[in-house]
Amino acid sequence: MENKSLKINYFLARNADECSQEESTLLAAAEHATLSSHSPYSKFRVGAALLLDDGSIIEGSNQENASFPVGFCAERTALSAKVAIAPDKKIIMIAIRVRSEIKLVNQPAAPCGICRQVLLESEEIQNQNIRVLMQGEQGPILRFDAVKDLMPFYFGASDF
Ligand code: THU
Repeated sequence: MENKSLKINYFLARNADECSQEESTLLAAAEHATLSSHSPYSKFRVGAALLLDDGSIIEGSNQENASFPVGFCAERTALSAKVAIAPDKKIIMIAIRVRSEIKLVNQPAAPCGICRQVLLESEEIQNQNIRVLMQGEQGPILRFDAVKDLMPFYFGASDF
């Protein structure tokens, strides 16, 4: 068997000063979204903000439930709101911020596998890459210029 390897392209900023104005605004919106998080079980607040091609921003946060598997992640909450509010708009970028009530989170947290899969479908449907930004409560920012970059070897519509 041939040994193959994969290069994943991403960007790292030390703080929001190294980001564009548009990116900083979206990171702030994602931080704002953590305020509406319902996370009494994990104490882990996740906020997501989507920038659409008309300049509007849609926020979502994680919504937990006493029956744990029922909970929604922030990314999918924001994506569901987008489909309801602005189905025909394209998503330019998503910012994801996390904040814990237990400890200071100074590293970005990446979207879970299910959220990546759902984000990927949005990227495929709109036929335009979605930039992904991640940041903790403070600290460095990770930027991926496409959801595909976060999830190589994905399962998509062309697989069946
Ligand atoms: N969570 C998200 O909202 N997004 C992710 O991509 C990862 C996890 C939430 C789910 C749960 O409410 C909390 O974070 C702890 O797992």
